[in-house]
Amino acid sequence: MCGIIGYTGYGDASEIITSGLHLLEYRGYDSAGMTICTDSGLMTVKTEGRVSELEKKVKSKQFKNAFCGIGHTRWATHGEPSEKNAHPHGTGNVMLVHNGIIENCAELRQMLKKHGYRFDSDTDTQAAAYMLDLEYKEEKDSIKAIADLIKHLKGSYAFGIIFADEPDTIYSVKKDSPLLIGIGENENFIASDISAFINHTKKYIRLCDGEIARITKSDIEVYGTGGKRLFKDIETADIGAVELEKKGFEHYMLKEIYEQPEAVRKTIRFLSNGNMPDTRYFKDIEVFHITACGTAMHAGLIGKYFIENFARVPVYTELAGEFRYKNPILSKNDIVALISQSGETADTLAALRLVNSRNIKTLSIVNTDGSAIARESDNVIYTKAGTEIAVASTKAFTVQVAAMLLTALKTAEAKEKMTKGEADSIIGYIYNNIERSLLSVFHSDTIEKASEIISARHDVFFIGRGYDNYLGMEGSLKLKEISYIHSEAYAAGELKHGTISLIEKGTPVIAIATDELYYDKIKNNIEEVKSRGGYIISVCPENAEKIKEVSDTAILIPNDDKPLRPFSAAAAIQLLAYHTAKKLGKDIDKPRNLAKSVTVE
Ligand code: AGP
Repeated sequence: MCGIIGYTGYGDASEIITSGLHLLEYRGYDSAGMTICTDSGLMTVKTEGRVSELEKKVKSKQFKNAFCGIGHTRWATHGEPSEKNAHPHGTGNVMLVHNGIIENCAELRQMLKKHGYRFDSDTDTQAAAYMLDLEYKEEKDSIKAIADLIKHLKGSYAFGIIFADEPDTIYSVKKDSPLLIGIGENENFIASDISAFINHTKKYIRLCDGEIARITKSDIEVYGTGGKRLFKDIETADIGAVELEKKGFEHYMLKEIYEQPEAVRKTIRFLSNGNMPDTRYFKDIEVFHITACGTAMHAGLIGKYFIENFARVPVYTELAGEFRYKNPILSKNDIVALISQSGETADTLAALRLVNSRNIKTLSIVNTDGSAIARESDNVIYTKAGTEIAVASTKAFTVQVAAMLLTALKTAEAKEKMTKGEADSIIGYIYNNIERSLLSVFHSDTIEKASEIISARHDVFFIGRGYDNYLGMEGSLKLKEISYIHSEAYAAGELKHGTISLIEKGTPVIAIATDELYYDKIKNNIEEVKSRGGYIISVCPENAEKIKEVSDTAILIPNDDKPLRPFSAAAAIQLLAYHTAKKLGKDIDKPRNLAKSVTVE
């Protein structure tokens, strides 16, 4: 969470930092700020709210000769979103921006108060900034002061730092939060993510934990622990300039929902061309473990269904935030699959490191090239959703589902539960038909009508059986994220064990029923809800007469062969959440309290 960027060069630092912050805004957007070095000294501008607000303030300042600076877009951890808590923080000597959490900030504050420092923010970051100021006053050496600072810190951090004595130089250091150094011509950058400088350069250096970087427009020096100069590998990003165009769509989320057929096809094409482990890799696996967070976990649960169903290999699933602290039982023929769009989610990364320390095989399913989770896993399956800008994940989810299906089919082949021909025909069917299938969902007019009913209520329930249960969880999360309507998802048979007491006249219950195996059973569950006044919105295939006849409203997906149904039902529930949020006038692409990349535990 939080995005940081720094620039030093001949360009206009305030403009370059502003546009970089727009590209980093997915990491947090409750306040923003920057410190700019100009001929008249260090100037700091901060605001509560979005980068666009900061942009207005910065423009009104009309900085002259802004050659260097650091900027920040915040997702609050300590202290409410406000101007006083926005970064940068610091003193007349040093200013810094921070991504992470300083866990021992309370002790540091106490100690710094004794040295006469007065805190005017509620942040953990201000303690780090003052600590650096104190060290700098003692050392009078920037690198030494930073090295001493980090000895005092517990927690995670990536810092961008500017000292007033060296106004053309950015310093940086990190631990457990991402930080890249972009290498331009007569200009250099730091950023939390490549996207922030990709419009200027594709070349970058990856800073590792504990390394300290000193960056001017013409030089980059990196020092390891003990002050040893390091010569780091230069990497080249293989992504193009980040597209900020909505291409005629009202929101990024809608655009990304519509991009799903192509994203799934691209993922299948890429993975089928030898870019995933072959059957030998899966041959001896006795148990799968899947761990992830949020939407990625829902894709993992659907993956569990696929793997158990097709390959008959047992699968344990656990949220990464739990997995990392539970001393998991892992045996030598197990494999742990970790799913993450960003590849940098703190809990998922910590789970991966735990598994690595036990010498158990790790396989990550990641959408972001070169991300920490991808780099630290034994094997990576890259999904090809492209950049997802809306905070609510849509196309990244469906490509994760596709990747899990391919993994399940490869395992099934390896375990001789299926022939290669059978596996290929399932994948081929999806590849050839997903566009047609999803287009029919995109054109459904029942989804908008159903969203009208939902938008008028405070509580909504999702029910389903088999993989539809997991799709219900995803539908419920999507609805909560962007419409702020309370919602819960249950396995259809479970509702009567307590939660059914919440059903009253008109309570919307969304029954996802795409698998004929369960029609009779879920029909009974629907009847149970109906007889207590619930309003049934079903998501089912066109020919699911048994479901249609007990529904108040039915969102119909094509009758296509089973493999496509999770994809078309996913699109239906995403659109249901989208239209509901739109009716309520919510900020769909940047919902309150959230950030796309969750780099704190
Ligand atoms: C999805 O809509 C969410 N914003 C969130 O649950 C997300 O899936 C989760 O934070 C995991 O992120 P990751 O895939 O980048 O690891």
